[in-house]
Amino acid sequence: MKAELTNEFFNKYGQQPTHHYFTPGRVNLIGEHIDYNGGLVMPCAVTMGTWLALAPNNENVIRFKSLNFEEEAAIELKDSYIKEGKEWYNYPLGIFNEILKDHKIPTGLDLIFHGNIPIGSGLSSSASIEVVMAYALNDYFNLGYDRLQLVLMAKRVENDFIGLNSGIMDQFAVAFGESHKALVLDCDTLKYKAVDCNLGDYNLAIINTNKPRKLAESKYNERVAECQTALQQLNQEIKLHALCELTAEKFALHSHLITDPTVLKRATHVVKENDRVNLAAKALNNGDLEEFGRLMYASHQSLRDLYEVSGAELDAVVDFCSDYEHVIGARMTGAGFGGCAIALLKKGKEEDFAKQLTDFYVARIGYPAAIYISEIGNGASAI
Ligand code: GLA
Repeated sequence: MKAELTNEFFNKYGQQPTHHYFTPGRVNLIGEHIDYNGGLVMPCAVTMGTWLALAPNNENVIRFKSLNFEEEAAIELKDSYIKEGKEWYNYPLGIFNEILKDHKIPTGLDLIFHGNIPIGSGLSSSASIEVVMAYALNDYFNLGYDRLQLVLMAKRVENDFIGLNSGIMDQFAVAFGESHKALVLDCDTLKYKAVDCNLGDYNLAIINTNKPRKLAESKYNERVAECQTALQQLNQEIKLHALCELTAEKFALHSHLITDPTVLKRATHVVKENDRVNLAAKALNNGDLEEFGRLMYASHQSLRDLYEVSGAELDAVVDFCSDYEHVIGARMTGAGFGGCAIALLKKGKEEDFAKQLTDFYVARIGYPAAIYISEIGNGASAI
């Protein structure tokens, strides 16, 4: 990939790139729609991701080019930026805008990005491009931010520049991921443990439903707002700053305060899903993959019935998996409304699984899904 990018760079800009960077995408093993409720999540970085090649130019301009999109941009160095339409380069442009709050950018830059994360698949291509840009500028200009500051910066871009009220999980996972490890992250304190993700006889399969994620952003923001309503209503009796502070017992005592049945369903998911992450971390630590798999199915059901962020395509994949002998757990991963599911698939059954799932999925949905076997990779780095 590095050689290919170097070639493209030379063809486009007539000079060699001086620096190369990589940031992965992520899957979340369990703990969905929990990060913005201050609870536990368990993501890991994958080996797909975004590469960035960079060199300074002598003009006061930032040039954005991607091998994935046609649109390119040459944007003059200024003191601040605002989002320009819906173009892909808003993500890295938002990072420039954040850095300009603290530092002057001393020189223009030529940039080329290349990603192999399927866009809109829920594997965090946006966190990947944000973090690769933040990591690169910090490294290249020696700005002195630590990794967590870069994560928080990328989250601000997503929230304030792009306009999605997402939590911290994706940016955190793609920055801090470690090969063969899952991160157990407390989204309230931002403390985390990288735990061995030993899947024994199983592989982690990623199944992309290939469903275009229309309206996903507005529905995501609606879920965030519903959780805030639940929190406000619970706060009439108890003092909480996040829903995940509640145990299931305490929630049962106070849930009558939530007046809207839909909001009650959302809060019930959050409290129970947070418990499931604790149980899943224990199961993984004990090597009890069957239990881990059961928790994955329970998580999916809750996202389908209580949080209502699944859909016919994700349900088709998980329905197939639950009837397929060689899968012990499956669930949607990420925000939902399309995107990807993950499954614990017995090693050696990859081909059979792909064939049978494809037949089933095409018959039910009308077009094929894409199936990958994923390695757990490292977080952001220079390469
Ligand atoms: C998206 C968001 C994350 C998280 C997940 C759902 O990926 O970016 O912050 O909320 O959805 O768990």
